[in-house]
Amino acid sequence: MSSVSEASQIRDIRQLSINLDRWYVVARSSEVNTQPIGVTLWKQAIVLYRDRNEQIHALEDRCPHRLVKLSHGRAIDSELECAYHAWRFNARGECVAVPYLADNQKLPSCKIRHYPVQEQDGFIWLFPGNAQTKHHESVHPMGVPEWEHLNYIATVSVIHCQAHYSYLIENLMDMYHGHLHQDYQAWAEPSLKDIYEDSDRVDAHYNAQSYYKIDKIWSISQLFFPALRRLHPEPLNVSYIYPHWASTLGKDFKIYCLLCPVNEIETKAYLVHFTSLNAFWRLHKLPVWFRRFVKNSLFGSAQKLLDGLVKQDVLMIEEEQQAYLENPQRRGYELNRVIASVQRLMRNQVEKLK
Ligand code: FES
Ligand SMILES: [Fe+2]
Repeated sequence: MSSVSEASQIRDIRQLSINLDRWYVVARSSEVNTQPIGVTLWKQAIVLYRDRNEQIHALEDRCPHRLVKLSHGRAIDSELECAYHAWRFNARGECVAVPYLADNQKLPSCKIRHYPVQEQDGFIWLFPGNAQTKHHESVHPMGVPEWEHLNYIATVSVIHCQAHYSYLIENLMDMYHGHLHQDYQAWAEPSLKDIYEDSDRVDAHYNAQSYYKIDKIWSISQLFFPALRRLHPEPLNVSYIYPHWASTLGKDFKIYCLLCPVNEIETKAYLVHFTSLNAFWRLHKLPVWFRRFVKNSLFGSAQKLLDGLVKQDVLMIEEEQQAYLENPQRRGYELNRVIASVQRLMRNQVEKLK
């Protein structure tokens, strides 16, 4: 590739690569068992499996023998056995057994890549970059502290869109698109107050009207019955904490979007919504087992709302991508200065590596 086209690729946000030296979310914890699964993070096919001690491992999803996917195979203790000829690989990606090895033959010295991986807050976090950077203090999985907290009820919705990740982030940071979700009554009348920006994050603070107030035990039913909702002013904060996103609407709602960009035209992400029970101080005096029972029983209570929002957003995001592919030169008009801030962050995260 010539240096001219390289430079124009860097300038074009819709072709932008990702900063690999960050932790990404590649799966939910519940998706990974002893049966291996294949995932893709920025064009890298990766196999995840869980060993007998519940430890998660991540290897390149490519058997070095005949280059088929190792995710068709099975986990045996902490090793992964290929489905084709049963060669086995340890968690460091070294070939440790070939069942038909003759006495005069040595184990092949082939080795595949292994990835640093961590299971935290219900998700599998993977570091696809330079393993040395991993130990740098500022680089750690963002985490989702409310996941285990007994005062928060979680709902997870999967976003899988045929679009560059920048479209998703811009959608999540431009709260003026509440219009799209009118039938779900998520938030109303947003107005941008200010933006904070540094080399790792953008925080946009909006004033908005919220439909939800979780202050009575029956308030949770607002998630199911729109007629119970009443508008009242609340701060609406959205943050792009590269490469992920987090948002709060007043004190009662918190949402995260955990990203797994697949390639330039495909993005996977997990939208995690939390309803807070902080207002119910009496609940906090109850036994932990009961509080955990309440938390687990209400898991997914915002599923319909969240899936509905995702569907509407994905339709718009994919149309933006299509329009770009039809005519990459054509630019839309933009009025929200948050978009310029998030584009600057995305570019800086990738370009500072060069
Ligand atoms: S292709 Fe994997 S063992 Fe032969
Ligand atoms: Fe949306």
